[in-house]
Amino acid sequence: MMLYSLQAARDYEAKAGAEIATGLRPGFHLSARAGWMNDPNGFSYYQGLYHLFYQYHPYDSHWGPMHWGHATSRDLLHWSYLPAALAPDQPYDGAGCFSGTAVALPDGRHLLAYTGVREERGPDGVLRQIQTQNLAFGDGLDYEKYPGNPILSEKDLPADCSVANFRDPKLWRLADGSYRLLAAAERRGAGGVLLLYRSVDLVHWALVSTPAENRNRLGLMWECPDLFRLDGTDVILLSAQDMLPKGFEYHNGNGSVVLLGRFDPETGVFDEQSDHALDYGIDFYAPQTVQTPDGRRVMIGWLQNWDTCNQHFLHSPWFGQMSLPRELSVRNGILYQRPIRELEALRGEKQCFDGLRLENEVRTLPGLRGRMLDLELELRPAGPLYQRFAIRFAQDAACHTGVSFRPYESVLKLDRKFSGSRRAIIHQRRAKVRHENGALRLRLILDRYSAEVFVNDGEKVLSMAVDTPISADGLSFLADGAVALSVTAYRLNP
Ligand code: FRU
Repeated sequence: MMLYSLQAARDYEAKAGAEIATGLRPGFHLSARAGWMNDPNGFSYYQGLYHLFYQYHPYDSHWGPMHWGHATSRDLLHWSYLPAALAPDQPYDGAGCFSGTAVALPDGRHLLAYTGVREERGPDGVLRQIQTQNLAFGDGLDYEKYPGNPILSEKDLPADCSVANFRDPKLWRLADGSYRLLAAAERRGAGGVLLLYRSVDLVHWALVSTPAENRNRLGLMWECPDLFRLDGTDVILLSAQDMLPKGFEYHNGNGSVVLLGRFDPETGVFDEQSDHALDYGIDFYAPQTVQTPDGRRVMIGWLQNWDTCNQHFLHSPWFGQMSLPRELSVRNGILYQRPIRELEALRGEKQCFDGLRLENEVRTLPGLRGRMLDLELELRPAGPLYQRFAIRFAQDAACHTGVSFRPYESVLKLDRKFSGSRRAIIHQRRAKVRHENGALRLRLILDRYSAEVFVNDGEKVLSMAVDTPISADGLSFLADGAVALSVTAYRLNP
């Protein structure tokens, strides 16, 4: 097996990253320093900075042997790249350093917990993956893999779980100084299961419980679990492969899921009460959360989906970006998401268009254009209920991408089929939204190559990546029927 060198990755990314013009990256969403990015990893606050690592293949804009890329930020919007933190350079992780967590330890060290992948040929001659959990300790810049790795391996799995799917440790420290680790695994023939382990020394672990299992629903293998308490509710986040739709939920094949319920820290039992999709757009997967020093629970996800990625232009110098950081809260059995409040500091020039009346027309608004915008929209019927309202953006003669709303169906739709993508892939996603007789509030955040729509103050969110050339920066509004509209638009200056 070929092992990769961390120093080689660091040398390569410094050069390749510097060749990418900042104007051809998102302005305030973290993108791969060079090459490919998938899941956020090790999202943590350590020594006065937020650290975000990510699944990373620096040498190519397609997935490959996974490294951990690394960036830091003070406000979760302005990011500085740091040298890659992990490379697949050990016998137990030579096929990839997969997703995991970072924890600030009381002794001042920064701990990374990640999945090491190696490949082994079975007696049948078929190559299979061996996935184990591993540690690395560092100072926020350089990390050393623990010589006793792996700390969790096949022997720690229930007998009916497969070592080929055992990954993405979420590790945290309790007030009593002990640790918990939640990993995703797969029961042979029965799909995803979350395994909770306990340790006092980070090295010896005992299985406590299986807080959640898919029991033939919510897809097959589960990935990237997170668990936290918020507003009196316990929340599990996970990302599921091979999902089938359930009504208007889970239309993406691979999708992120919220489980709400009650977690008993003693027994490790999670009493699940409800589930819903985390994002109703096209591109969102594998989120992680961090607790900010002022107590907010903030989530970042990969602003892509395995079902639609790999369709990008082959010459792309980078591929993959993170979602906007989102502040979470639980209300009425729903996990709400709002753009992180630090975004307001990026607001520049403001334009207000109040009391507009659109009737069976497409309209542009004077001076309103751009690809980095924060738009607040309020719409309601101007007379009898309208058929459809839409906003189009990233628009020129050839391209546009849109968000439309049909109040009779209560359906909000994203559509990027004219966004200038390399080929026609999945380009639409619909969500049922709550409205009062056609009255609806939307906040739309545009950042060069993405659009994120927050409905009713974050009750639902729909996200997508867009490939449209930056020169397409027009916006227009469309009404079938008569719509009363007000628009507040801020130019975002990262
Ligand atoms: C989720 C995932 C993880 C894994 C990583 C590999 O997107 O499949 O389960 O750790 O990506 O890059």
